[in-house]
Amino acid sequence: MATEAGREPACRTSKVKRVNAIPDRRSRAAAAAEDAGQAAHRRELLAGLRGRVLELGAGNGLNFEHYPTTVDEVVAVEPEPYLRERAVEAARNAKLRIDVVDGLAGRLAFADAAFDAAVASLVLCTVPDLDATLTDLRRVIRPAGELRFYEHVLAREPRLAALQRALTRTGVWPLVGGGCHADRDTVVAIERAGFAIQDCRRFHFRPTLLVAPAAPRVIGSARRAQEES
Ligand SMILES: C[S@@+](CC[C@H](N)C(=O)[O-])C[C@H]1O[C@@H](n2cnc3c(N)ncnc32)[C@H](O)[C@@H]1O
Repeated sequence: MATEAGREPACRTSKVKRVNAIPDRRSRAAAAAEDAGQAAHRRELLAGLRGRVLELGAGNGLNFEHYPTTVDEVVAVEPEPYLRERAVEAARNAKLRIDVVDGLAGRLAFADAAFDAAVASLVLCTVPDLDATLTDLRRVIRPAGELRFYEHVLAREPRLAALQRALTRTGVWPLVGGGCHADRDTVVAIERAGFAIQDCRRFHFRPTLLVAPAAPRVIGSARRAQEES
């Protein structure tokens, strides 16, 4: 990923009409976020990737259309059955091979060093154990392979960080956000897990006022650090 000003090293609706209105409202909000800039963030996240790639928590497959053709194969892990079905549909329309499989962060059923790269996109906020998730991702990425990340993170602005902590620790944000934690210092956790940050751009993305606690975002790449001898 190209370095530019502002970067710092280490820094649809489904075909089946659903009775429940909530997913439809959510998919409208999700589509609005894509149009407001998130689709461009996904392209930035995935640009230049090569080889065999693992995507963790792929949701309904919104990243799939943005993978470059330099990628040979994507294995997309998604534990939630409804989303996994949507991801399978999205994979059928992708321009490269994408296998969608069941699985859970921190307990990935892949051999050590099985992937050239892994992608975490708006998922590290939700996994129950961030450190175990990153340690397991490091295990399945080959030495000197890449972790690409696009996540919302703990704000650097004290007042917003305090709001994120309060909303997360009272359980309000996880309740409305499907288990999401707004107060994770994810870049620090990535380094702690044995990755060296190569590129990291911090910015705010707030398609609606309601998602202000998830506005501080990072897009970046980290390389699996060499083993200590
Ligand atoms: C906000 S969605 C993001 C989906 C997709 N990555 C994207 O960028 O649009 C979070 C995703 O993480 C998945 N997820 C939640 N807990 C998980 C876990 N423990 N292991 C793997 N995926 C998980 C959810 O099922 C959901 O698909």
